[in-house]
Amino acid sequence: MKEQLLEILEKSKIDIKSAENLNQLDQFRVKYLGKKGELTLLLRGMGKLSSEERPVIGKLANEVRTDIESLLEENKSVIKEKEKFARLESEVIDVTMSRKTKKVGHKHPLTLVLDEIKSIFIGMGYKIAEGPEVETVYHNFDALNAPKDHPSRDFSDTFYIANDILLRTQTSPVQIRTMKNSKPPIRIISPGRCFRSDEIDATHSPMFHQVEGLVIDKNITMGDLKGTLDTFAKRLFGINTKTKFRPHYFPFTEPSGEVDVSCFKCGGSGCRMCKGSGWIEILGCGMVHPNVLEECGIDPEIYSGFAFGMGVDRITMMKHEIDDIRLFFENDMRFIDQF
Ligand code: DAH
Repeated sequence: MKEQLLEILEKSKIDIKSAENLNQLDQFRVKYLGKKGELTLLLRGMGKLSSEERPVIGKLANEVRTDIESLLEENKSVIKEKEKFARLESEVIDVTMSRKTKKVGHKHPLTLVLDEIKSIFIGMGYKIAEGPEVETVYHNFDALNAPKDHPSRDFSDTFYIANDILLRTQTSPVQIRTMKNSKPPIRIISPGRCFRSDEIDATHSPMFHQVEGLVIDKNITMGDLKGTLDTFAKRLFGINTKTKFRPHYFPFTEPSGEVDVSCFKCGGSGCRMCKGSGWIEILGCGMVHPNVLEECGIDPEIYSGFAFGMGVDRITMMKHEIDDIRLFFENDMRFIDQF
């Protein structure tokens, strides 16, 4: 029996050393020390031993059991270490590896400039108003005091959808909708798309963008208009910008004017950008015509106001020295990605 015990011990040593993982190791524990394990089964035969042999074999059996147990324990920690290293090895992060780049888009140059314009006016207390791109002739022309024979009404200039429905040619109809739907004081800007039946070239597109402005209150004067637009120009083009108001004609304002800013490229001395004049035209404006106020149910004896309208595409072209409006709408990433 002594030999058998020592044989079990030797066998278990070889087995336990060969174990590659904790699972295998546990199988060997069961094989030798389990309820039906080799050592357990052998010890069942102890009853047949003589009373002299029994304590000697009993002692040896206990030693063999403890030896196997400590072998198991030892190998368990070796395997655990090995597994830990293997895991760490496989989880290694190569910090020098180039990452998968997720390309995030960005705003279109027109949107960027529009955002600047909006934030300047929002800073002055204006709200944003919106109106439909498909408009009635009434809102786009009649209510804006446009004479029946105004050339812009012509079929060759305007996209008509029906006799009395068109694609708006300007953002000015939003003035009408705002005045009819709310009471003064009114202070809004209205950005949006406009449409005119123009031939496409470097400076014309049948679809373009405007920002309309409207202020109605008691005691609004031309001084308020000039101060507002001068402040706006200085914020958009730089603090040294000068403004010039030239008389002009718009049916919905009286008096009407156009505003030029001193050329922000040459500072006013004359260059290619300002065609040598030192000035660049940026918008149309004026004091809201009494006929327009009346049409919208606002008493011109009590209230007055000013309005203005500017082309976002033109201003963006100026600001970024872009010489072809078509670049905005062709979606060529080589152009768009520059902003
Ligand atoms: N609607 C004009 C245009 O398309 C721009 C404009 C001029 C708007 C004067 C205004 C204004 O509100 O007062 O040319």
